[in-house]
Amino acid sequence: MDYLVIEGSRPLNGTVEISASKNAALPMIMAAILSENEVIFSNLPRLTDVDFAIRILVELGGKVSMNREGDHLTAKIKFPDSASFVAPYELVRKMRASISVLGPLLARFGKAKVSLPGGCAIGSRPVDLHIMVMEKLGAKVTVEEGYIFAEAEKLKGTEIVFPFVSVGATQAAIMTAAMAEGVSVIRNVSMEPETVELGKMLNDMGAKIDGLGTETLTIHGVNKRTLPGPKSPISVIPDRIEAGTFAVAAAATRGRVEVKNAVAEHIEILLYNLRESGVIVENTKDGFIVDARHLKKIKPVDIITSPYPGFPTDLQAQWMAYMSIADGTSTISEKIFENRFIHIGELFRLGARIKYSGNKATVQGVERLKGAPVMATDLRASASLVIGGLIAEGTTEIHRVYHIDRGYERIDQKLTALGAKIVRNRE
Ligand code: EPZ
Repeated sequence: MDYLVIEGSRPLNGTVEISASKNAALPMIMAAILSENEVIFSNLPRLTDVDFAIRILVELGGKVSMNREGDHLTAKIKFPDSASFVAPYELVRKMRASISVLGPLLARFGKAKVSLPGGCAIGSRPVDLHIMVMEKLGAKVTVEEGYIFAEAEKLKGTEIVFPFVSVGATQAAIMTAAMAEGVSVIRNVSMEPETVELGKMLNDMGAKIDGLGTETLTIHGVNKRTLPGPKSPISVIPDRIEAGTFAVAAAATRGRVEVKNAVAEHIEILLYNLRESGVIVENTKDGFIVDARHLKKIKPVDIITSPYPGFPTDLQAQWMAYMSIADGTSTISEKIFENRFIHIGELFRLGARIKYSGNKATVQGVERLKGAPVMATDLRASASLVIGGLIAEGTTEIHRVYHIDRGYERIDQKLTALGAKIVRNRE
């Protein structure tokens, strides 16, 4: 297994180009199941999770051709009627986002058998809302021997009200209701940019989804097994979490970084909080610039994670690493996942002073962090350890770095280009 070695205390300076969004690409790849014609993606990020999503479609019987042109990955996907409706455990268990094949397979074949994904480091991550969606749209759903089996002669539009915002369950509802007979009104939905992009792709394919980006969606189901397909190749939006991660790393190392191919508006709350902490952030035509070269004392800023447009839970761990060297105490409340503080133990090894109980952490800023060997536990926790290593004096080794490769394309190379001393070794 690879591990990263970072010599810290060096400000990041320069320009970084953000890759296409993992969390936009994954559901869009699954939505290709609904297309009558070939779906072409022009700029997929080279991430293990994206490779894996493609592999799932191939294992199901999809015809996929990939072409790597430098940083860009183009993929042509055609999902035939002869494909399977069964997503087996050995595939789904490796990536929970695979659960999003449930709706498209059900709509396409009238039945779907998908393994329960199981939990992960940040929580049990149940899929009860996904099951609720299928049942509300008329499917008969049974869960046995670790599999969800859904069957529906006909899917019928209906009203669905989510008890709280779920990105994945919203996306499941959109993909499935789009194919049903009749109108669906879906309330308290995810407004995340990734969900909006999925809806736009489906509309481009022939669906009729109104209200994208608002709390309520109205979907006029097409009452078919497939949609005609996209009119042109699909370009995936920039990864706002990668952009936010580099923004925080620039601030924490007191550098100046221009983040290109990013949409500032998609992480407006993060950029606002960076300004509140004393950092200069200016928007540019294709991203933004973070300038913290003047920053003597980092002002502590409290955050509470919430669904978009609130503070993204996927940037909570990175923010915590930044606040660990603030001039004072800050609080971080994690309202989305029940166990997303695993990175605290590892930041502790770098000298951070953090206490927590339940979903609220209190970070007492220290003068400096000191390098140490640490272990990544999940994707975004790894990013916070990289930021910790960039800040710390001395050497930090980050083990189990396969976590970070799931969601960050060539992070060590991008950081090296910004002046970081970071190398990838093999254990
Ligand atoms: C998506 O996960 C993202 N993953 C996550 O990013 C992100 O943290 C999360 O949304 C919140 O923004 C992808 O897009 C592939 P949820 P998802 O359903 O859809 C509970 C990353 O690092 N819940 O919005 O699984 C759930 O347990 C990943 O890139 C139920 O109770 O998140 C959680 O507490 C991590 N029942 C809350 O809802 C359900 O049926 C929000 O989860 C579904 C979810």
